[in-house]
Amino acid sequence: MAKTSSEEPDAPKNLDVPENLDVPEDLDVIVIGGGPGGYAAALYGASAGLNIALVEQDKIGGTCLHVGCIPAKELLEAASVFRTVRDSEEFGINSGTPELNWPTVMTRKQKVIDTLTKGVSSLLGSRSVHVYSGKATLTKDKSVQVIGTDANVTLQAPNIILATGSTPRTLPGFDVDGKLVVTSDELLSIEALPKTAAVIGGGAIGCEFASMMGDLGTEVTILEALPEILAGCDADIVKMVRRSFRKRKIDVHSDVKVNGHKPKKGGTVISYGDGKELEVELVVTAVGRRPRTEDLGLKDAGVDVDDRGFIVADAHCRTSTTGIWAVGDVISTPQLAHTAFAEGMLVIKDILGENPDPLNHKGTPWCIYCHPEVAFAGHTEASAIEAGYEVVTASHRYMGNGRAQIVGETDGIVKIIAEKTADGGAGRILGVHMTGPWVTEQLGQGYLAVNWEATVSDVASLIQPHPTLSELFGETALALTGRSLH
Ligand code: NAI
Repeated sequence: MAKTSSEEPDAPKNLDVPENLDVPEDLDVIVIGGGPGGYAAALYGASAGLNIALVEQDKIGGTCLHVGCIPAKELLEAASVFRTVRDSEEFGINSGTPELNWPTVMTRKQKVIDTLTKGVSSLLGSRSVHVYSGKATLTKDKSVQVIGTDANVTLQAPNIILATGSTPRTLPGFDVDGKLVVTSDELLSIEALPKTAAVIGGGAIGCEFASMMGDLGTEVTILEALPEILAGCDADIVKMVRRSFRKRKIDVHSDVKVNGHKPKKGGTVISYGDGKELEVELVVTAVGRRPRTEDLGLKDAGVDVDDRGFIVADAHCRTSTTGIWAVGDVISTPQLAHTAFAEGMLVIKDILGENPDPLNHKGTPWCIYCHPEVAFAGHTEASAIEAGYEVVTASHRYMGNGRAQIVGETDGIVKIIAEKTADGGAGRILGVHMTGPWVTEQLGQGYLAVNWEATVSDVASLIQPHPTLSELFGETALALTGRSLH
């Protein structure tokens, strides 16, 4: 096999993957893409005894590890530490006025990424996954051609999994230059936080970044096209997040159209709405992510894409070509790392002929790490009614929860949406929605309740540990039985 020079200017770089230049003839599966969908399929498949090759053109770990979940949550944690130190006098700890040392924040973020990347790479190595560093393309005969740093090789296997992920969508009038206009990719490695910023898009990414920058001293304005931020979240939850944003001077303008921007000294001026202007140092666009399918050879391999560019896949992630599956952000299921993990494992079971049940995307757990955090699974009140359910709901505030008072985080609620029973009571739990302290860690109970189709009385009869934040879920279920405790 011919070795290409690793000094070629355009060769993909990957310092993290184990080098393996063998071309095994008895591969069971080729995975294209080493993000959560791809590496989960490779690790899970290798655990089941399959012989697997994984091709990655950049870094093992994908968006989640390098420019998504992990760095974003790490920066949000820095913001949380900043708030804790700032408010520590209330607890009798005099620590002075906190100062932000952004280079150290960046160093720690990178350390977390590097540690986790090494961990995934070594797991792949220890399970004997053949990792190739390079760009993979499907060919007409369903081979996979890899143009790589280490080698150009052609791989063949009866099963191929496409897990090539997504990239940030761009916005007309806001060309990304890495200085005045950035996406999440650039913001996560920015040299210094700006004094003022506009975040265009009030979805999960927009709200997380606005919250992080706002807590670390940036004056932030969110510009959202829809009538409300955090589309898909329950209206009561959104109301509480907005209230917290308002208190922390994070401005939200919803139902607005952004027209473009004009650079000026020290920043730029955004024009939006009907002739309104906003001058900021930095514009962050967070208007969704698009599937990454270019130059993948999909047409040659007979793999269909829909009109938004997503690979068409059925409930088992099978594409239009037999023997080719697609998982993660490249298909139109929720663009979440944990969805990609689950899809990667589902496909391996399908390859093994285990006839797995399709995933229930309606019960997906969602966790948004802005302050206050948001976490939910199942129907919102509005979507349950729209789906034809008669519902009963109850909400409990963290204000009355002992642990919330102790940790000093009392903003937030737990809301349960249940199906109304024939006698007017509360039956099956349709949705659990939370905002407040550490709710991303508390959603587990709600997620299980929704997905195991538990009833309110099932949950209300369980003992909750006290004092915990998570007991608020049990309290809320109790309220739905018509007999509250606290
Ligand atoms: P998103 O689709 O969740 O939100 C984008 C927002 O931008 C929407 O509210 C949309 O109405 C708005 N928008 C679109 N065009 C606009 C325009 N021209 N002007 C103003 N607003 C505009 O996408 P986001 O936040 O970029 O996230 C991408 C994906 O990654 C999503 O699927 C998201 O769920 C996922 N993600 C999830 C996270 C989590 O669960 N913690 C964290 C980060 C991302």
